[in-house]
Amino acid sequence: MTSQTPSRRYARFVATGAYLPERVVTNEELGKLVDTSDEWINARTGIRRRHMAADGEMTSDLATRAAEQALNNAGLDIADIDLIMVATATPDNTFPATATKVQANLGMTHGAAFDLAAVCSGFVYGLHMADALIGSGKATRILLIGAETFSRILDWEDRTTCVLFGDGAGAVILEANDVADGDTSPQGILASEIRSDGRHYDLLYVDGGPSATQTVGLLRMKGKEVFKHAVRNLAQVGTAVLDQTGMTAQDIDIVLPHQANKRIIDATVDKLKINPDNVMLTVQDHGNTSAASVPLALHRAVEEGKVKSGDIALFEAMGGGFTWGAVLARW
Ligand code: ACO
Repeated sequence: MTSQTPSRRYARFVATGAYLPERVVTNEELGKLVDTSDEWINARTGIRRRHMAADGEMTSDLATRAAEQALNNAGLDIADIDLIMVATATPDNTFPATATKVQANLGMTHGAAFDLAAVCSGFVYGLHMADALIGSGKATRILLIGAETFSRILDWEDRTTCVLFGDGAGAVILEANDVADGDTSPQGILASEIRSDGRHYDLLYVDGGPSATQTVGLLRMKGKEVFKHAVRNLAQVGTAVLDQTGMTAQDIDIVLPHQANKRIIDATVDKLKINPDNVMLTVQDHGNTSAASVPLALHRAVEEGKVKSGDIALFEAMGGGFTWGAVLARW
């Protein structure tokens, strides 16, 4: 009788893609619209510019462009994908899921596609889901996209919120990686944790919706409150995923944080005692793109050679709900 080597199935990253709309809006330009300045926005958030979707350019269009690039970079065809997940809080329509439009745009007629609603944490929630689906054998290769057109839900007269957000999309492909027991450095997602606390629904929300008001609504936020919760919650989930693996902050080669605000990123990294040189920062170039921000940062890290095979990467995000989560992976 031959003895089989037991194995565990990991969700391994294959490739990334990104898309940012052509139009760039600088802080100076926003200063002509509301009473603000490049100095104020940069000092409080680290944001210098953001991209804005053109008229008629929808979340599904951004998502499709990012997905095409990820497939291209992976050398894969859409026939190789069995599931599409789109993390978004700004879908094209209330329903159907934007993911189904992306599926059609990519010419995929098999498998399944659905949206995931966890606002700025959507991509990290998606990684958690992808790990569970691949690990359990229910999916083999997943296209996970974070895509947003937040410019469509901003109150352009409210300087406390309209300066913070932007539009964009990022995509990753994850696939099953069977690793034999005893392999001490498997590639893929090593640990993940997602959390939410609905008591804080009203601290960051959109004041409309099909069931509540029959309108789309605009983003409302109590910024100071969000800031306090963000640092505490992100440090908590960051610690949780490190504890799950027995790793420490010193083991982390790169942090891919939600790009909402440089001050939140700095404070969280400081709390976790992670080397600030290992943090990927892109918020200056696209503002807070909600579910798209982590994959946009990841894509740039890959392109710039800042994440290499075998590196330990920490992903973290927090958003409306509140929702928050972290993922630790070996690249
Ligand atoms: N330009 C100039 N002045 C402004 C602007 C602006 N765009 N916005 C607010 N101000 C003014 C305020 O009116 C206030 O003036 P006052 O003192 O005369 O009343 C002053 O600046 C200070 O306002 P605060 O709200 O106290 O500013 P704060 O230092 O808290 O910074 C900010 C505001 C940047 C929103 C901060 O609270 C923050 O970063 N919060 C986190 C929010 C966030 O990133 N959310 C993203 C979604 S959640 C997530 O992704 C984690």
